Amino acid sequence: MGLIQWNDQFATGIASIDHEHAELISLINFFYSKLTQPSNKNELVDILNNIYAAIHAHFMLEEKIMKKNAYDEYEKHRDDHAHLLDDIRDIAIELDKSAQFDEQDLQTKLNDWFVIHFKTYDARLHKLDH
Ligand SMILES: [Fe+2]
Ligand SMILES: [Fe+2]
Repeated sequence: MGLIQWNDQFATGIASIDHEHAELISLINFFYSKLTQPSNKNELVDILNNIYAAIHAHFMLEEKIMKKNAYDEYEKHRDDHAHLLDDIRDIAIELDKSAQFDEQDLQTKLNDWFVIHFKTYDARLHKLDH
């Protein structure tokens, strides 16, 4: 699996969100690049924890914007954020506990949820008046 490429399907047209999406993609790609090199597990766990913190802050920004605009699918979108945060925490805990880990599986998991959320929930934000 390759790195995540910025894709116009990710664009919401809301500058602050698009800017953070580009930053998150860089962070995830940095993590991927470490996965394919011999890296130490603590370093990977640290990067994942940084990703968690950045994503948490990003979700708060989106939720603030949705609330301000009385966005019609706010609750559904917020619930998916909560679900994604749980997933990434589980991935970090699992990675921390395991003596061995499956790089391909980790990459697939991150890619799946990230890209799918971007293309569906986040892409729909372009409908907001802003
Ligand atoms: Fe987002
Ligand atoms: Fe979102």
